[in-house]
Amino acid sequence: MILAIESSCDDSSISITRIDSLDLVFHKKISQELEHSFYGGVVPELAARLHIEALPKIFEECKDYLKDIKAVAVTNAPGLSVTLTEGVAMAKAISIALNLPLIAVNHLKGHIYSLFIEKEESFPITVLLVSGGHTQIVEANDLNNMKTIARTLDDSFGESFDKVAKMMNLSYPGGPIIEEKAKKGDENRFSFPIPLSQSSNIEFSYSGLKNAVRVEIEKIKELRNELSEQDICDIAASFQKAATSHILQKLKKLFKKSAPKTFAIVGGASANIYLRENIEKLCEKHNTKLLLSSLKYCSDNAAMIGRVAVEQYKIKDFTKIDELYIKTRVKEL
Ligand code: KG4
Ligand code: ZN
Repeated sequence: MILAIESSCDDSSISITRIDSLDLVFHKKISQELEHSFYGGVVPELAARLHIEALPKIFEECKDYLKDIKAVAVTNAPGLSVTLTEGVAMAKAISIALNLPLIAVNHLKGHIYSLFIEKEESFPITVLLVSGGHTQIVEANDLNNMKTIARTLDDSFGESFDKVAKMMNLSYPGGPIIEEKAKKGDENRFSFPIPLSQSSNIEFSYSGLKNAVRVEIEKIKELRNELSEQDICDIAASFQKAATSHILQKLKKLFKKSAPKTFAIVGGASANIYLRENIEKLCEKHNTKLLLSSLKYCSDNAAMIGRVAVEQYKIKDFTKIDELYIKTRVKEL
């Protein structure tokens, strides 16, 4: 079995995965959403302190499996430096104590392998990775052959939901709240600009859309001092429509050039049903098979890290303890 640790942002998670059968025999995650909600976003230093409390608590529950563990895996990139450090330090301690090899896992590969938890891997796939830190399209051919073919120029899809939620004093993370509010809103009340709609390049941008929402909120507040519940729902729906249309416009361009046989959406924001349904329609039109990770594995978790680690274990992709560093800015695979 492989024990895997994830602490790249605000989720403390440990998993234990069987190498031969891929069974996930243990998986627990402690999220810090409530603690960060007060600040409207993740406070790195607070996140690190909470990992120090949560990770050993979860580890206590794994003790019965320790005799069967063959390697310790940990997310080492990308992520917040102070939170990655907590997971890496813990993995190194376990590796020394139990004399086990270490496996350094890229978090973005983890999101892609969330498609294969308790399943065999199957490539090639074109993957849309939408999370709080990333918005990119990846051509994934196998574990060590993945290429980012499109990326965001500024903010990410998930981050823009978080920021729009913050502007309306909604809690963190903004994605699920905006999606809920949008269900009760009129998506045609505000016509927010669809980013980069005039450009033929396949790339993303969310900072302009975010500012357009800010300006609209300020306009309403000038008139009436505060937003009504209906204003909030209409802004959420109109924003979600523009943010999703942006992704769809770019995917349509990509599919027009050459429609992939298999497409997938991964990352925390891939839980968004509005986005999923629209991409489903596009895939149906092009006869493309669509892979989705189960909703419980969209956001950060150690099960996906353990799943990548199984493949790394098979090819003995181990990292020596003094060569295992954290890398915060690895944006690509
Ligand atoms: O993958 P993840 O857990 O962490 C990162 O690696 O960044 O993604 C978290 C992000 C947050 O920005 C959150 O607001 C967004 O995913 N998110 C959503 C939804 N659920 C989570 N965004 C839009 N719609 C959702 N339903
Ligand atoms: Zn993530």
